[in-house]
Amino acid sequence: MRILLSPDATGAGVAAAAVIASSLGDRPAPVLGVATGSSPQPLYRALAGRVQAGLDLARATAFALDEYVGLPVDHPESYHSVIAREVIGPLGLDPSRVHVPEGISADPVAAAARYEAAIAAAGGVDLQILGIGANGHIGFNEPGSAPDSRTRVVDLAPRTVADNSRFFDGDTGLVPTRALTQGIGTILEAREIVLIAWGESKADALARAVEGPQTAELPASFLQRHDRVTLVLDAAAASRLSSASLPVDAGR
Ligand code: F6R
Repeated sequence: MRILLSPDATGAGVAAAAVIASSLGDRPAPVLGVATGSSPQPLYRALAGRVQAGLDLARATAFALDEYVGLPVDHPESYHSVIAREVIGPLGLDPSRVHVPEGISADPVAAAARYEAAIAAAGGVDLQILGIGANGHIGFNEPGSAPDSRTRVVDLAPRTVADNSRFFDGDTGLVPTRALTQGIGTILEAREIVLIAWGESKADALARAVEGPQTAELPASFLQRHDRVTLVLDAAAASRLSSASLPVDAGR
């Protein structure tokens, strides 16, 4: 895994946007995988700046990683709403090309199968943007998720419900407990992955993901199987990595 270090979250966002812009090159209609949550916000801000400066994503297709099960689409914290607010608008995407799992479907199993089919029909994901949970989840693939898992309904770990309560007035009782998420196998099929993480709360999971064994107990460790992963980290998120993992210019 390639690791890029920035002093802070804003810098990580700028660095991640640079990686993505250079990977997309002048590809006219890329397929992006997009994450929600706090981690990618500095990245989306930096990418939005590039869009204002001329980067054209109007013909990009995008697939969100996940969506809560049962949360109305128009709830401000549904990932449909978050993607509309933080991704489609700022990046100038065409809403008709942006897909989010149907968390309110009466048949979430069929919705998961449709989502996999839509990704395949788009030709697969060119570049997947990821965050990481403090417990090492990617998407909502919580500890225990298999490396070949596909899009499916999952139960959120208590730690994830607690962490995400900040989006629900701090009330864990308001956080949905189930989600539809792309599987680890689905995520690993993306041609390139850029994971952005900042803050001390991610440091332990990152050290285990990069330096520990590949294990379902730390789902992000399965990223070691992919040959084109860039981790863009701030100093706090990188603070528990051994110096052997860090870039040579990281102040050693
Ligand atoms: C979001 C997602 C999650 C988050 C992770 C970190 O679509 O799939 O894996 O990336 O929970 O969340 P934040 O960035 O809010 O700390």
